[in-house]
Amino acid sequence: MGSSKKILVTGGAGYIGAHTVVELVNAGYEVVAIDNLVRSDLTLITGIEKITGKKVNFHKGDCRDKKFLTELFRSEGPVDGVMHFAALKSVGESVQKPLEYHDNNIGSLTALLQVMQQQGVKDFIFSSSCTVYGQPDSIPVDEQAPFKKAESPYGLTKQICELILEDVYKTGFRIISLRYFNPIGAHPSAHIGEMPIGTPNNLVPFITQTAAGWRDRLTVFGNDYNTPDGSCIRDFIHVVDLAEAHVKALSYLHNTRAHNLYEAYNVGTGNGVSVLQLVNAFIKKTGAKLPFRIGPRRPGDVEKVFANPTKINRAMNWKPRYSPEDALVHAWAWQQKLSR
Ligand code: NAD
Ligand code: UD1
Repeated sequence: MGSSKKILVTGGAGYIGAHTVVELVNAGYEVVAIDNLVRSDLTLITGIEKITGKKVNFHKGDCRDKKFLTELFRSEGPVDGVMHFAALKSVGESVQKPLEYHDNNIGSLTALLQVMQQQGVKDFIFSSSCTVYGQPDSIPVDEQAPFKKAESPYGLTKQICELILEDVYKTGFRIISLRYFNPIGAHPSAHIGEMPIGTPNNLVPFITQTAAGWRDRLTVFGNDYNTPDGSCIRDFIHVVDLAEAHVKALSYLHNTRAHNLYEAYNVGTGNGVSVLQLVNAFIKKTGAKLPFRIGPRRPGDVEKVFANPTKINRAMNWKPRYSPEDALVHAWAWQQKLSR
């Protein structure tokens, strides 16, 4: 479906934001991307331009800066919706710097919503996380599951942001929170992918950097969990599938007649895959050497979690196209490009 609607994407130079910009442009949207570049540089913006063949309308700025946002909305003219990816996302760092996480993640959300309200922009998609569930009582977890006590300040910011959204939507917003499970992989073109600054915390960039020789070996954090092979279980979702879920959520909002709306959706495959299964799949699919050892459990890790994605399947007809193996192959192609 073609469209010339204009969408503001915050955190557009980051991992998931960049993949979503590509899918938005492919679906015919006009995109304005902003990012303060605290966790990124312009590499992915250049990659987006290579994939789409179009220049990205990019502005450097901070989501907490209401003056910057107001001027941006004024200069860009009518905006039809906002996708808000900008946030700090490192669980471990959030324990060291909780105030930075609260200030950035919650401050960005409230500033953005205030400016949207002033400008009469109603449609909003928020990057939430399965971290809001903590260790759920039953798995697969659906959207009815209660929020457990957050395992980290990062997790708490996502819970607080969702509660704020659930409160303010009544004043005229139409809002969807997408609760991502574990996004992995890269664009099949290998022009964009995950680019953590410094030592990666997340599993897949650690795997690919180790296989590329940037790191000596991977440590699998624990093999004594109550799971079939003893390692943790997650729901690994290809980042391009996740990006497509955003485009579907946006057209769902644009097509609803509701004046006010708040809905939350899981975005996962519905399949649990263990860390060791993923490591072995990487070795098998890529043929790369991946030295790894079993280490102690990582504090704060949830034993197993995977999604019940029925709600988004039904409401938006969204289903993942790619498998975790595809995601590993794409992540490896991207890593090899970075290594060149
Ligand atoms: P990322 O770090 O690659 O991208 C986030 C981008 O936001 C970065 O480019 C950063 O520079 C920018 N940013 C941060 N604070 C900003 C601010 N105040 N103003 C403007 N820009 C700012 O992370 P990502 O993996 O693309 O994550 C995107 C969103 O998805 C985040 O909200 C994250 O919490 C959420 N999320 C990520 C995962 C995951 O595993 N990657 C899982 C669940 C949810
Ligand atoms: C967590 C959150 C997720 C959040 C993300 C942000 C949960 C269930 N998930 O993902 O919502 O958005 O952080 O970063 O709280 N692992 C290793 N070795 C490594 C790295 C990771 O064994 O070097 C293991 C971890 O112990 C874990 C799995 O791999 O079992 C996935 O870890 P990671 O990629 O960091 O994501 P989560 O912690 O699941």
